[in-house]
Amino acid sequence: MASTTRVCFVCLGNICRSPTAEAIMAHRLGLEDVGVHVEVESAGTGDWHVGHPPDERALEEATRRGVPMGGTAQQFTAADFDRFDLVLAMDSANREALRALAPTPQAAEKVHLLREFDPQAHGDLDVPDPYFGGADGFVDVFDMVDRSITGLIAHIGSTHAQG
Ligand code: 4NP
Repeated sequence: MASTTRVCFVCLGNICRSPTAEAIMAHRLGLEDVGVHVEVESAGTGDWHVGHPPDERALEEATRRGVPMGGTAQQFTAADFDRFDLVLAMDSANREALRALAPTPQAAEKVHLLREFDPQAHGDLDVPDPYFGGADGFVDVFDMVDRSITGLIAHIGSTHAQG
């Protein structure tokens, strides 16, 4: 394999949205040949849930969709910019927190919104925080993230596979 693309999905707590994205991406990479080796992780900009497993509601939705999900929450640090090629924030608040944390302009350029890859985003590029809402929010998060990951995989296949 010519190269490796390293992706980190980042939300606030790393227990709802970003572990969902990591799980969907890892699952899809196991089913599809992207033409490049891809490594995925997830993290939070906050530290409240470090060491915790994913939220039960996120786990339930992933299980319902046949996507294995696990891991424990970690906080994204400035040093992590060296470990990833793409740092994909779940919403603009987390994107701004990541940009503020970036030690160099080159690091800041690695930060994008995941929903830049969602063909149905129609200008709203945030994956809304489902933590304080009901189960419906987790269904919507899964759908948005799933669509975005289809676009992300196509992007990685077309732009990173040559390297
Ligand atoms: P996440 O959701 O950022 O998608 O993991 C949240 C999890 C926990 C909190 C907020 C959002 N919290 O305030 O503890």
